[in-house]
Amino acid sequence: MEILEKAKILISALPYFREFYKKIMVIKYGGHAMVDPSLKQNFAQDIALMKYVGICPVIVHGGGPQINQVMERMGLKPVFIEGQRVTDEETMNVVEMVLVGTVNKNIVSLLNRAGVKAVGLSGRDGELIVAEKMKVYKYRGEDRPPEIIDIGRVGKVKEVNPQILFTLIENDFIPVIAPVGIGPDGEAYNINADLVAGALAVALKAEKLVYLSDVEGVKDEKGNLISTLTIKDIDRLIETGIAKGGMIPKLKSAKKALTGGVKKVHIIDGRVPHSLIIELFTDEGVGTQVVFTEQ
Ligand SMILES: Nc1ncnc2c1ncn2[C@@H]1O[C@H](COP(=O)(O)OP(=O)(O)OP(=O)(O)O)[C@@H](O)[C@H]1O
Ligand SMILES: [Mg+2]
Repeated sequence: MEILEKAKILISALPYFREFYKKIMVIKYGGHAMVDPSLKQNFAQDIALMKYVGICPVIVHGGGPQINQVMERMGLKPVFIEGQRVTDEETMNVVEMVLVGTVNKNIVSLLNRAGVKAVGLSGRDGELIVAEKMKVYKYRGEDRPPEIIDIGRVGKVKEVNPQILFTLIENDFIPVIAPVGIGPDGEAYNINADLVAGALAVALKAEKLVYLSDVEGVKDEKGNLISTLTIKDIDRLIETGIAKGGMIPKLKSAKKALTGGVKKVHIIDGRVPHSLIIELFTDEGVGTQVVFTEQ
């Protein structure tokens, strides 16, 4: 490549660097997107680049596949109801051990090796994420009330105390957050990482919320990629069953985040090398962008 070409490529990103300078961006790093070692390396480089051009990244990670692996090794069988992991006391111990002890620390090391200062936290630290028990309602037909199922220590976000994050961000650290919340009696709750990312994006008044997942973006009924969604499309996608399973908490949180003041939400493919950089710093959008209203 001509040396001038290299300079031109860097300069072409200048408007984005300027726009995002000092802005907070919450990145949800999906458990499925973090399996391949070279993609993990790419992810760390992308975050380091974001940091060094002046963005303040905050990372929330998942870890479903990693939890399943350890559970199976321990002879425990993962059970899901309505897409949520049934989490008894023993399962909660495994969830916390894997998310906070292994997955979180791996990401922290990966980022530190890429030349930025990352700090791992769970929702317990500084009471960052206060949880309340989530009830699961199962539809039983028109004439009967829904069945309420107890799935154990599965929570939703009740409150966020973001002070610890502002302290870290101001001192140039990148917070890496495991989606474990703290309940009313100090007990741990397993919370879907998408919900945590959405709630944190609002509490931090983030510029963007980016979901790095294992799919090209949100797909329509024919399986085609939807490049732009507005929040009014979200309920329909969920009600019609076009968006199911792991896409539901992303879309619900996207709606909450946009209503709560986050400017834009992106759902992008973590399997594509450097998809974060492509989405943020080029005019080639990848994946799905979710916006409040059509501009
Ligand atoms: N309409 C849709 N468009 C795109 N993906 C969809 C849709 N409906 C359901 N999905 C599913 O949502 C999945 C993404 O959510 P999933 O929870 O599996 O991953 P993740 O949230 O990135 O990772 P983790 O849950 O481990 O943090 C896709 O792999 C796809 O199977
Ligand atoms: Mg998920």
